[in-house]
Amino acid sequence: MTASRLCGVGDLAVGEARRFDAGGVQICLVRCSDGFRAVADTCSHEDFSLSEGAVDPDACEIECWKHGSAFSLLDGEPLTLPATRPVAVYEVLVDGTDVSVVLP
Ligand code: FES
Repeated sequence: MTASRLCGVGDLAVGEARRFDAGGVQICLVRCSDGFRAVADTCSHEDFSLSEGAVDPDACEIECWKHGSAFSLLDGEPLTLPATRPVAVYEVLVDGTDVSVVLP
């Protein structure tokens, strides 16, 4: 497992999502109301970027902008159709002002 630094704590506002390339893995980093979450950036329905979707920071969900599936950022599970498969969830480490993702 390796931790890869993505950004600083102050780089994302609550409710913001951003795509990062972490060693070739496309990560969607989201700042929810209670902290940072990271999931695979590619929607499990089709090849579109989740980081361009709308975030519900209190529910900790992101909605794919293409066809509207919402995903839990806690476990990656799709909450609404058309997606039926989860997206991968990655552990996030916050160390001081650094936000990192743990890659398997
Ligand atoms: S590509 Fe995300 S719901 Fe279709």
